[in-house]
Amino acid sequence: MTSTSSPALEARGLVKEFRGPGGAVRAVDGLDLVIRTGEVVAFLGPNGAGKTTTIDMMLGLAEPTSGIVRVFGKEPAGAVADGQVAAVLQTGGLLRDLTVRETVELTAALFGRTRPARPFLERAGIAELAGRRVGKLSGGQQQRLRFAMALVAEPDLLLLDEPTTGMDVAGRREFWGAIRNDAAAGRTVVFATHYLDEASTYADRLVLVSHGRIVADGAAAEVMALASTDNLEDAFVALTTDERAAR
Ligand SMILES: Nc1ncnc2c1ncn2[C@@H]1O[C@H](COP(=O)(O)OP(=O)(O)O)[C@@H](O)[C@H]1O
Ligand SMILES: [Mg+2]
Repeated sequence: MTSTSSPALEARGLVKEFRGPGGAVRAVDGLDLVIRTGEVVAFLGPNGAGKTTTIDMMLGLAEPTSGIVRVFGKEPAGAVADGQVAAVLQTGGLLRDLTVRETVELTAALFGRTRPARPFLERAGIAELAGRRVGKLSGGQQQRLRFAMALVAEPDLLLLDEPTTGMDVAGRREFWGAIRNDAAAGRTVVFATHYLDEASTYADRLVLVSHGRIVADGAAAEVMALASTDNLEDAFVALTTDERAAR
C-alpha cells in the first residue's frame, strides 16, 4: 500500500444533477466529506438518497455538475488507472461461462500481470470454488468473486455499492467477514448500504445521506445522540425524513 498525506477521499461542494423530462433532479446536493486512510465508513441512506451517484463520481464513472472529488489527492480516473481504488458493484462484470479461477486470472491479465488466482480467492473466502462456473454461483458467492477481482489491483481504497443486496443472512455474514479481515490490513473501505445493522456492525463511521445531503456523520452513538434517541432505526427515520435536515 502506498502511504500518502492526502485523504483517501475528499469531496467539496459536490453536486450532480440529472436532466429529465420532468426537469432537473439534484441527486447529489452539495456534499462535503473527508475520509482518512484506514477508515471503514458506511454511506447510509434510503433508496434514492444519492449513494450510487456519489460512488460513481468517486470512481470517475460520472462527472460532477459542480464541486470537486479527489481520491488520494487525484482525479478519480487517475486513481483508478493507478490501481489505488477499486470497486465492488452490484451488477455486471462477470462472464457466466468462465470458472472462478479463470475470472480472477483474466482480471489480473487486464492489469497486465500474470498472477496466480489462489491468494485472491483465499482472501475472498472462495478458494474452494475455484473450478466452479460463474453462472452456478449464489449471489453471495458472486459478490465475493467481485471482491477477489477488486483485490487484484491491491487498492488502497475499496468502494462497495450495496454489495449484499439480495443475499441471505449467512451470505452477508460471510461476505463481510472477508471484507473485514482484509480491511484489518489497513485498507480504507467505503460502502453504501440501506441496512442499518450492516452499517453499525461493520463501519467505524456512519455518513447518513438523505436527498443528496449529509444529515449526520459520526459513530453510531453520535448519530443517535444527534436525533436524541438511543435507537439507531429511530435516528435513521428521524434524520432522513425531517424536511429541515433534508433541505
Ligand atoms: N442516470 C440518471 N438519470 C436521472 N436520474 C437519476 C439517474 N441516476 C440516478 N438518478 C436519480 O438520482 C437520485 C439518486 O439516485 P441514486 O444515486 O441511485 O440513489 P441511491 O443509490 O442512494 O439509491 C434518485 O432520485 C434517482 O432517481
Ligand atoms: Mg444505489
